[in-house]
Amino acid sequence: YAPVKNLYGGGQQQHLAASSSSGTLAEIPTSPIPGMKPGTSGLRKKVEIWQGIDDEIKEKYYVENFIQSLLDTAKANNKGEIPKTLIVAGDGRYFNDEAIQIICRVLAGNGVENIWVPRSGIMSTPAVSAAIRTREGGSADGGIILTASHNPGGPGEDFGIKYNENYGQPAGEEFTDALYERSLEISSFKTVQGSPDININAPAGTTFSLSPTSAVTIIDPFTEYVKVLKESFNFDEICEFAKHPDFSILFDGMHGAGGPFAQRILIEELGFPKSSLMRCDPRPDFGGCHPDPNLTYAAELVKKMGLKSDGSADESAASTAPTLGASNDGDGDRNLIAGAGCFVTPSDSLAMICDNWKAIPHFEKAGGLKGVARSMPSSAALDIVAESLDIPLFITPTGWKFFGNLMGSKEQFDKRDYTPFLCGEESFGTGTDHIREKDGLWAMLAWISILIDANKDTAEGQPLIQVKDVVMNHWVKYGRHFYCRYDYEAVETDAANKMVDLIRDNYINGDLSALNEDPSGIKLVATEEFAYTDPVDGSVTSNQGLILFFRYANGDDARVIFRLSGTGSAGATIRMYLEKYEKEKERYGEAAPSILKSLADRAIALVQLQELTGRESPSVIT
Ligand code: G6P
Ligand code: ZN
Repeated sequence: YAPVKNLYGGGQQQHLAASSSSGTLAEIPTSPIPGMKPGTSGLRKKVEIWQGIDDEIKEKYYVENFIQSLLDTAKANNKGEIPKTLIVAGDGRYFNDEAIQIICRVLAGNGVENIWVPRSGIMSTPAVSAAIRTREGGSADGGIILTASHNPGGPGEDFGIKYNENYGQPAGEEFTDALYERSLEISSFKTVQGSPDININAPAGTTFSLSPTSAVTIIDPFTEYVKVLKESFNFDEICEFAKHPDFSILFDGMHGAGGPFAQRILIEELGFPKSSLMRCDPRPDFGGCHPDPNLTYAAELVKKMGLKSDGSADESAASTAPTLGASNDGDGDRNLIAGAGCFVTPSDSLAMICDNWKAIPHFEKAGGLKGVARSMPSSAALDIVAESLDIPLFITPTGWKFFGNLMGSKEQFDKRDYTPFLCGEESFGTGTDHIREKDGLWAMLAWISILIDANKDTAEGQPLIQVKDVVMNHWVKYGRHFYCRYDYEAVETDAANKMVDLIRDNYINGDLSALNEDPSGIKLVATEEFAYTDPVDGSVTSNQGLILFFRYANGDDARVIFRLSGTGSAGATIRMYLEKYEKEKERYGEAAPSILKSLADRAIALVQLQELTGRESPSVIT
């Protein structure tokens, strides 16, 4: 692929001359296309489907149908008024630019007056959220984000579209369900015909009129995002610490949308050397990598951080590794955090950020956190810290939209204020109310801030306190939640469903006392199928994970959860989440996958995973 355009140069001038070759409005007949049901985070399909070149969808208006259904839903939600201002931006994956052109035409055809497109078409998901909320001259009514997040891109791979609403939050289930219903009824879409493509590489401030009532304005992708991060952290202090001779960072952009933002913030704003970045140029196929920051897919960074693939330290490599490493996913909202020779699990990272709230100005300025939350499959490490700080803790289903309601409790619903709010998920997502999305770079800045705080009394010439010290101190204080996840990707859907049915029939609804003793001594003692009632809007979400509670012969408790992923695009991905709490300090140094191996074996046998799916081992252990 051609290298992606330069995002950094170009003018900041406002109100450049508008091109004036508007097209004509048209209404084109179409027919419903089945299967447009958004998952955990938007609609993801093979790119050929979106392009209309897949055999089954040939010559159908896939993008147009989806966007028209989305706009009809937004309009119905907005008392019959079409949104006035929308952002359209993507993570730069294959088909990004073509999709932007199609979407702009459909928006204009529907009378959306202002369409904002970032220069180059690329913006990370957190940056879109920031721009929707706070762009100067008036916030937007929403944003259409072209991403399949951490799924691979390129021909034969995934493309996706998701919608964020007016506070910058991902659209909730009510919206996406209504969109899906609409997509099954649609009979025409509106667009403009005869207008030339907009030049998405034009300088910020350029406008293109698409119809007499609609114009596209090219915006600077960075402005609002940089602003909210500056409000959240102490940039001067970080700049100073960046000069410390023993402190170094490494950021892996995985050729996704986070790269240019890391360049702008870490290098240009904070003064870290350029060598602190790897894979920060966005590419349509993410350079052939799977842009998901976990121990398996971020293997290169993991190695450079002095880690083995199971997350344990490779001592010789760790001695020369950077102090702090982080990796983002395709759209820059996920994060993997590691110190030299120390992988920090997302659940631990969340608990540690919570415990170190004083190090983060956004929390400190407000006198502390007023609410925290984690997704149900994330470990309970956060719970203990929340309890000791005496702050409300929420346990939500998987999916950032559930946090959105809690953060927006006051702002959107005029209810109790939980901000400053901190939340995160085992799926490598961490964030706060500075925006309404998880934020990969935020997590890195949070850890830099924690290290600065941990070293405030370190005398010159003394060795710096490292990530591994922060982590060990935390475990000594609170105990360690050994945690890891097995993924079985692209399993046959029927087989995965059979396994879920078996768990429901035999364990959730079955009689556990009838189970035979197992030689491992690990006993299934209770089960639960997770459901959630949203405390802010009262909505109920069921079937959110099958929880199996175990007890070891020595009395230790453990938990295993089975859940089907909501972000895949083909077949099913089974996720198995393993967790065991440990108070014995002597064991803290051990690798989670080995501590949890016998628990995994026990759970796999009980649910007949191997027999039903034919899989002998997972695709990912992280
Ligand atoms: C996306 C969402 C997250 C969610 C994750 C789960 O990244 O933004 O909020 O945790 O998907 O993915 P899964 O594949 O487990 O459904
Ligand atoms: Zn993502």
